[in-house]
Amino acid sequence: MLRVSAILLSLVAARCTATVPANSTSRKLALIGDWGGQGTPPYYNPPELATAEALARYSRDNPLSAALLLGDNFYPAGISGDAHSLRFEATFEAVFNGSALEDIPFFAVLGNHDYKGNVSAEVAYTALSDRWDMPSTYYSKTLSFKGSDGASFSAHFIAIDTVMLAGMTTGDDPTQQPPGPADAVVASSQWDWIESQLSSSTADFVFVFGHYPVISGCSHGPTLILDALLQPMLEKYGAHYLSGHDHCQEYAEYKGVSYILSGVGHGCCYEWTNEDKNPTGSIKWHHAADTKAESTGDAPDAGFAILDLDTDGFTVSYFNADLDTQYVSRKVAPRAADLVAAK
Ligand SMILES: *[C@@H]1O[C@H](CO)[C@@H](O)[C@H](O)[C@H]1NC(C)=O
Ligand SMILES: *[C@@H]1O[C@H](CO)[C@@H](O)[C@H](O)[C@H]1NC(C)=O
Ligand SMILES: *[C@@H]1O[C@H](CO)[C@@H](O)[C@H](O)[C@H]1NC(C)=O
Repeated sequence: MLRVSAILLSLVAARCTATVPANSTSRKLALIGDWGGQGTPPYYNPPELATAEALARYSRDNPLSAALLLGDNFYPAGISGDAHSLRFEATFEAVFNGSALEDIPFFAVLGNHDYKGNVSAEVAYTALSDRWDMPSTYYSKTLSFKGSDGASFSAHFIAIDTVMLAGMTTGDDPTQQPPGPADAVVASSQWDWIESQLSSSTADFVFVFGHYPVISGCSHGPTLILDALLQPMLEKYGAHYLSGHDHCQEYAEYKGVSYILSGVGHGCCYEWTNEDKNPTGSIKWHHAADTKAESTGDAPDAGFAILDLDTDGFTVSYFNADLDTQYVSRKVAPRAADLVAAK
């Protein structure tokens, strides 16, 4: 019998509102980081195309409710010009073009490469696209789902602007830390907003998503400002964190928080050089240069992750562009009852 499971997409756009189409049959979201093609025609590269084709194939059998774009949306230097830049069509719309992808919202955040160009254009493009949805450089959305047991549950997605919080990386040294926020007042007001989103959330699941990682063993390593300021908030409020930046795939858990890194949208892999900068034992699985297959065949070594939500918890599955399942996390329980308001 066909399960009729209406996703009620109730939107809590903190700083802006937007209308979002929804697929009514899914509890899955795609996580795609560091996917933004290239700066010369055709404005996508073979691994990005392979990632998009694999996701289109996956989503035909596994309908998605949304995709989260984890930053570095337009390589190498963001958008030049305005919201009518051809990059939106050539790097995004025409590539993530499978029919099962046509009706879902793509919630985006900005990466350091986006900040080399016109970030206002990426926000403004929200009004011109049926799918691209970034109402502001930080914002939140609450999605309601019907679980496999018929009960309803909610997930609160808090999109953050990690370049505003931690600053721009500049040098060629991949281990260089972001130097600190360009404007401390603006960063501080975003921190206040993040804490107010977390402290007032009544959702069963809370996910913060941004570009720079908190935990990473790959070339860029952990982001110290986020480790100092965001990690305690995630722990306190029972939230989890999704990011990109390192061109690797990683799953970590630390003090009850899952850290999901999906940064191989336009290619893989950076070197696995920084595991020892993270809490011992926190990183449960990774795909990086040390685990990369010798021959990647026709499908480049790129991919995405899937966040699979249900009433009793979530799992994360990592895929390459051949749609091989590379890792599936354990099931992580919803937030503790005292954090979730009566339904
Ligand atoms: C959701 O996805 C399924 C399977 O791809 C499709 O048949 C259905 O039409 C989609 N629903 C909406 C509202 O887009
Ligand atoms: C999707 O876009 C790619 C690149 O633009 C193209 O090669 C492919 O044929 C398109 N697929 C569909 C179904 O339109
Ligand atoms: C950046 O994009 C915005 C939104 O489209 C536009 O108003 C503005 O003129 C653009 N700035 C530049 C320097 O092109």
